[in-house]
Amino acid sequence: MKRLNIALIGFGNMGRTHSYAVQNLKFYYGADDPTTAARIIGVCTSKKETAEAAAEKYGLGKAYWNEDELIFSDETDIVDISTPNLLHYGTLKKAIAAGKHIYCEKPLCTKAEQAAEIAELIKGTGLKGQIVHNYRFMGPVVRAKQLIEEGRLGKIVSFDISYYHSSSTDTTKPIGWKQDGAYGGGVLWDLGSHAVDLIYHLCGKFKTVEGMQQIAHPLRAGVDGKPWKTDADEAFYLLAELECGAKGTITASKLGVGTNDDLNFTIYGTKGTVKFDLMDPSWLWFCDGEMPSGELGGERGFTRIECVGRYPSPGDKFPGAKAVPGWIRSHVESYHDFLTSILKDRPTCPDISDAAEVTRIVESAYMSAETGRRISL
Ligand SMILES: NC(=O)c1ccc[n+]([C@@H]2O[C@H](COP(=O)([O-])OP(=O)(O)OC[C@H]3O[C@@H](n4cnc5c(N)ncnc54)[C@H](O)[C@@H]3O)[C@@H](O)[C@H]2O)c1
Repeated sequence: MKRLNIALIGFGNMGRTHSYAVQNLKFYYGADDPTTAARIIGVCTSKKETAEAAAEKYGLGKAYWNEDELIFSDETDIVDISTPNLLHYGTLKKAIAAGKHIYCEKPLCTKAEQAAEIAELIKGTGLKGQIVHNYRFMGPVVRAKQLIEEGRLGKIVSFDISYYHSSSTDTTKPIGWKQDGAYGGGVLWDLGSHAVDLIYHLCGKFKTVEGMQQIAHPLRAGVDGKPWKTDADEAFYLLAELECGAKGTITASKLGVGTNDDLNFTIYGTKGTVKFDLMDPSWLWFCDGEMPSGELGGERGFTRIECVGRYPSPGDKFPGAKAVPGWIRSHVESYHDFLTSILKDRPTCPDISDAAEVTRIVESAYMSAETGRRISL
C-alpha cells in the first residue's frame, strides 16, 4: 500500500478532529483499505510545549513550532491546514510551492483575491486540494443531493438555510480569534461559509447577494478579560438569487440563545421539498404522560431534551457538548474521500475552485453589507 505522509499544521479542535479521522479510518473502512496507510508524520502548533505534547501524547510523529521545515520536508506528501482562518493563505502558498497535496479547513482564505490566486497556483500542478466542508458528507445531505439530481424536486424555486450557535451571547466570556476581525473572525466566514457551500453544492451557482450584518454586543470581554470593542459580525443575514432562478435566505448567527449546533435548511422545488436539521439525530423527544391535558391540548406533549454530545466527565471534553454524533463521521468520510481522490486520481469535493467561489460570494456579501448595494456576481 502506498503510504501518504501527512504534515498537520494546527492542533486545536480541528487538528484533533482530523487526527481522529486519519487514525480511525481502519475502523470505518477496514484495515486493508488503501487510505489506512496514511500517517501523520509531524504536527506544528504555535508553541514548542503544545507541539511536543501533541506529538508525544497523540502519536503524531515529530513536533514543530515553525511550519516551514515540516511543509518542505521530503517526507511530507500532504499538508493539513487546521489553523485560524487568516493563516491559511500563507500556508497554502508554501504547500503548493513545496509540491504537496492540501487538506484545508474552511474558509479557504478570507479574501477572494487570495483564494483566486491559490486556485490559479494549484491548477495544472497535479496536486489535490480539498476544503473541509464536512456537512457535504452528512447522510441526509448526500441523499438530498441525489434526490435533486434525480429531478425529484423538480425545478428549485427557493431555499432557507440558517446556522445558529449561542457562543456570542455571553459577553463576559473572553473572545477568541473567531471573534476578532484581524484573525479572519466573523460569523459569516465561520458558520456562514458552511451554509453558502451547502446551497452552492445542492442548488448551484449564485447570481446576486444582498447582506446585512449585526453586532448586537459591541462591547465584550477581550482576551485579557478587559472591555473590548467587537469588530467581527456576530450575525449575518443574506438574501441570495441563484443562476437557476431560485431565491432564498441564508442566516449565520452566534446570537441564538438556546441553540447548540443548529444548522437547518429547507429547499423547495416545483415537485418537492427537502428539509434537514443537523440537531435532529441528537435530540431526545420526551412526553411526560403525567402532565395535564386539556381541551386545547393543555401542557401535554413532547419535550425536546438536548443530549447532543454530552457525556459524563472525563468523556465531555472532545468533541464538546455541542458537536452532534454525525459530525465526526462526516469528517472521517471527508478525509477518506480526499485520500481516495489522490489514490484514484479523481476530483476532490469541494475542490479549490469551488472554495474560491464560496470566498468570492462571502466577500461580496460583506461588500453589500458595507455599501447597502445589491452585488452582482
Ligand atoms: N469544518 C468544521 O467543522 C470546522 C469547525 C470549527 C473550525 N473550523 C475551521 O478550522 C480551523 C481551525 O479552527 P479551530 O477551531 O481548530 O481553532 P483552534 O483555535 O482550536 O486551533 C487553532 C490551532 O492553530 C494553531 N496555530 C495558531 N497559529 C499557528 C501558527 N502560526 N503555526 C502553527 N500553528 C498555529 C494553534 O496552536 C492551535 O493548535 C479554522 O479555519 C476554522 O474555521 C472548521
